[in-house]
Amino acid sequence: MARILDNHLMEDEEALEPTLRPRYLKEYIGQDKAKEQLKIFIEAAKMRDEALDHVLLFGPPGLGKTTMAFVIANELGVSLKQTAGPAIEKAGDLVALLNDLEPGDVLFIDEIHRLPMAVEEVLYSAMEDFYIDIMIGSGDTSHSVHLDLPPFTLIGATTRAGMLSNPLRARFGITGHMQYYSVEALTDIVERTAAIFTMAIEHDAAVELARRSRGTPRIANRLLKRVRDYAQIMGDGQINKEVTDKALTMLDVDHEGLDYVDQKILKTMIELYQGGPVGLGTLSVNIAEERDTVEDMYEPYLIQKGFMMRTKTGRVATAKAYEHLGYTYPTEN
Ligand SMILES: Nc1ncnc2c1ncn2[C@@H]1O[C@H](COP(=O)(O)OP(=O)(O)OP(=O)(O)O)[C@@H](O)[C@H]1O
Ligand SMILES: [Mg+2]
Repeated sequence: MARILDNHLMEDEEALEPTLRPRYLKEYIGQDKAKEQLKIFIEAAKMRDEALDHVLLFGPPGLGKTTMAFVIANELGVSLKQTAGPAIEKAGDLVALLNDLEPGDVLFIDEIHRLPMAVEEVLYSAMEDFYIDIMIGSGDTSHSVHLDLPPFTLIGATTRAGMLSNPLRARFGITGHMQYYSVEALTDIVERTAAIFTMAIEHDAAVELARRSRGTPRIANRLLKRVRDYAQIMGDGQINKEVTDKALTMLDVDHEGLDYVDQKILKTMIELYQGGPVGLGTLSVNIAEERDTVEDMYEPYLIQKGFMMRTKTGRVATAKAYEHLGYTYPTEN
């Protein structure tokens, strides 16, 4: 069974995305810093009647990068063309996309760190000076064709800015670092989603759900649906704090919002490596998860919540982790 706390989009959720996605900055809850900056740059670009500078959005899955890309296009009043790094196999695929843009449009490339190098190189001149040079034909008859492009805005999304090459990263004028949401912001999101689906949820139930959703709107929305099911079958349909707690406990989401994989990571560090330091590779092998998954999904949240620390020699479990999982923290003597 798929993990309930996986912050990637699940297939059955895709259909709901259009109804759930906020469309304008004023409906977009949280990410105040990114919003504040974008608001100014968007207004300035509109005032000058120019394309907005290229935007790089980075942060863990499910924090609203795709949503933000659409919001930016809506605020600018332009169209958005959406694609993803792995979908652009050849330089020609990118040329076709760029050729299709109207002045000021947004080209949104998700997972931009997964662009093939040959494609990335074409992007450099397109981003910097709005032209591309493409090679046509092969052998003796091959020649380079210069193609001017309309000014456009590239919005790239990635889980880690560090995965981008330096030349590509340097061509983004605006970077938005998406942060985990505060409990307050997530509570607002849960209540907004509940209102859209006309579900009745008590405020302290929404807070409880927000506290246990890994700071991630996608997870909060997913847990809300499961809690509603639980309330309908096991209760009278009313979503209160007690029902929410029972449902989340049944789903193995603990009071700190950790699930069994998070717990397994911490337990492995404590039981097999005396709390660390332990290398990420070793840790991933021990818990049978991909290294990238551990680095993108589990670790940032565990660090943010103060259960794990990153040191030069490896990952270390904190006193808070020992206490949360019921171990005695070894004191130096
Ligand atoms: N600020 C917000 N307010 C309300 N709902 C939000 C907000 N941000 C995201 N959501 C909701 O959370 C879900 C996930 O958002 P989105 O798909 O934009 O995340 P993402 O960062 O692009 O994820 P991924 O990295 O997996 O592509 C969507 O259903 C969206 O409606
Ligand atoms: Mg996305």
